[in-house]
Amino acid sequence: MNVDDIRKDFPILGQTIRGKPLVFLDSAASAQKPRAVIDAMRNAMETQYANVHRGLHWMSERTTEAYEACRDAAAALMNAESREEIVFTGNSTGALNLVAHSYGRGVLKPGQAVVISGMEHHSNIVPWQMARDAHGIELRVAPITDSGELDMTAFEALLQDGKVGLVSMTHMSNVLGTYTPAARIAALAHQYGAKVLFDGSQAIVHRAIDVRALDADFYCWTGHKLYGPTGIGVLYAKREMLEQMPPFLGGGDMISSVSYEKSTWARVPHKFEAGTPAILEGIGLKAAIDYVQAIGFEAMAAHEASLTEHAMARLSQIEGIRIFGQAQDRGGVISFALDKAHSHDVATLLDRQGIAVRAGHHCAEPLMRRLGVDSTARASFGVYTTHAEIDALADTLTRVREFFA
Ligand code: ALA
Repeated sequence: MNVDDIRKDFPILGQTIRGKPLVFLDSAASAQKPRAVIDAMRNAMETQYANVHRGLHWMSERTTEAYEACRDAAAALMNAESREEIVFTGNSTGALNLVAHSYGRGVLKPGQAVVISGMEHHSNIVPWQMARDAHGIELRVAPITDSGELDMTAFEALLQDGKVGLVSMTHMSNVLGTYTPAARIAALAHQYGAKVLFDGSQAIVHRAIDVRALDADFYCWTGHKLYGPTGIGVLYAKREMLEQMPPFLGGGDMISSVSYEKSTWARVPHKFEAGTPAILEGIGLKAAIDYVQAIGFEAMAAHEASLTEHAMARLSQIEGIRIFGQAQDRGGVISFALDKAHSHDVATLLDRQGIAVRAGHHCAEPLMRRLGVDSTARASFGVYTTHAEIDALADTLTRVREFFA
């Protein structure tokens, strides 16, 4: 994988910010877009656009084909058994709310429990609290260890009373970079009679995901972190899950027939896709999937591992730095704090040098409390990140620390 060539695919990266070259280390929040994605969406708008699934005219049929090709690409990307197991949502949050509403309130029984982990994004906490409050399910939290890994013993203990209907967990923490042992989690969940969902928003960017090898019942992710557009996310669910779940949003496209007395639902996955979908975004996401598959996940994972190793080595040498999470299996997301400065100040001073990192609670307030901080700064890497950019971060952080000291 030649990073210099890859960088040429991303028009935004060549910029200077206040006279400094842009060092974009915030890909975990949203990744930049390759020209292939930009061109696919522009080309659709310029030459081939109409509403989908409805029209009998040429434009609508061609647009439907282009949009539905994204479903095939997403199914292949995750090794799903069939394209009917792919539901398009607005993002991962939309997918998690769909499952919490439809499966959590429509299939789980009051008194059953959902287990999440102690390193979840708010989007995998709040929907379950809403389901708990509306439907009487219990919410259990599997703790993490001091190194930022799932405590597997404590996790198994939460499953043992047989009341858990669903385990809903991140596959890679957006704060700690930790990969959770998804196959082991799924096997344990199934052993105790629970279904399992993985939030793969971060994981799918860096590793090949095989939902059948993981034996995941649900797996969700969002397009904009995988170099695709905002506004489209993917929920994979085993067909048997989708068949038993009631619809979430009602409206056009999700019905088979409607009368004032009764409506019946479209077949899966369309039962879960009410209204005009994110057509252009689907076309863009298809281009993004093709783009990453052309590079190959093996190459991307190796690049990410090399960047992460380099960053951990460089950053850990900075005086007064605390790096959050030391998991054995971790990816290219590194949260840190300096002893002498608030993370917002750190991010502001980095920005003055053209270096973009995220600072704050990263939509993970309970995890921040577990770490004993109110915020961290976070550097995250993409396929276009270079070792030189990590050196720029480390050198600038050293100067920032000296400034505050
Ligand atoms: N969930 C995204 C992040 O971690 C926005 O930054």
